Amino acid sequence: MENVVPSLTIVPVELGDRAYDIVIGRGALGQLAERWPALKAGGRVAVVTDSHVQAFHRGQVEQTLARIGVEAAFVAVAPGEGSKSYPVLQHVCDALIGARIERNDLVIALGGGVVGDLAGFAAAIVRRGLRFIQIPTTLLAQVDSSVGGKTGINSPHGKNLVGAFHQPSLVIADTALLDTLPPREFRAGYAEVLKYALIDDRAFFDWLETRADRIFSGGPERERAVAISCRSKAAIVARDERETGDRMLLNLGHTFAHALERATNYDGARLVHGEAVAIGLCMAFRFSVALGLANGQDAARIARHLAEVGLPTRLADVPGGAGDADSLLDAMRQDKKVADGKLTFILARGIGESFIARDVDAAKARAFLADELARG
Ligand code: GLY
Repeated sequence: MENVVPSLTIVPVELGDRAYDIVIGRGALGQLAERWPALKAGGRVAVVTDSHVQAFHRGQVEQTLARIGVEAAFVAVAPGEGSKSYPVLQHVCDALIGARIERNDLVIALGGGVVGDLAGFAAAIVRRGLRFIQIPTTLLAQVDSSVGGKTGINSPHGKNLVGAFHQPSLVIADTALLDTLPPREFRAGYAEVLKYALIDDRAFFDWLETRADRIFSGGPERERAVAISCRSKAAIVARDERETGDRMLLNLGHTFAHALERATNYDGARLVHGEAVAIGLCMAFRFSVALGLANGQDAARIARHLAEVGLPTRLADVPGGAGDADSLLDAMRQDKKVADGKLTFILARGIGESFIARDVDAAKARAFLADELARG
């Protein structure tokens, strides 16, 4: 298939002198050289990845680079959230310096959200900023974390507390790379796809409801879903790169999700991020219903669809339990969306009608959590 140019969708992220393209489609990775003409024989490239992704995709990346005479240094970290840490960041930074990657060279982040956040942050700080390209290999990374320039690692105090905004120079979302993704990971990423529909695109929700099976099985609907999600994220990031306003909408479902991840000690065997988001999305809508903002039909429709694709929708679905209302509320207070002691939630008037609600009464949130726990 070497010479077949796949049909690709290009989504621009309009950020002035930091603008870049997201290149989406089956086989997009093979177009790396065409999409990044600065990559020339003799140029230096470091590919940051994890050992799991490396086993699947290193060969293809090496071949793509070899065609233009570029030999890359590979830096592989352990798979999993544990790699978003100070020691692993130090290892990656030193490996980039050791590989003599300089400002005119290139870092490639090849992997899921952990690798993208870690490699992006290393690229932000080594030599005060290196150019980097995101090649996301999970659905979640393709539709969310690889776009928008949030990079960072975790602190013992919480997730993503040390980081920088550092936009990539290009994102290549090759949807064929998702063929090797375990079904659980793919499903988890789907929760983030659905999030875009719930934020402001009811027609996308209607479409997803009848197309999910084809998105999962790898039909052209998969590219379309990734492209619509990326377009939505690109538009929000272009409006509010630094999350002072609209970008907070991307946190729909995430205040609850982060609390659940905390309640399960970030143990991915129990709950992966996207699963927590699936429950969080349902809870954001049920909370909106409880506050008299939205009708119950939309909330039920969302839960039905998520359950149909095999995602969890209730606190009772959390393996080992989600703890009690006070500890969940406490975890939500720790979340970064707390300002002046008030809880900020993303709530909704219906599917596609989400909004930022500041000053949500903590007592109402607690009562809602107690109700959710009692539902079983
Ligand atoms: N994942 C949320 C954001 O990029 O703002």
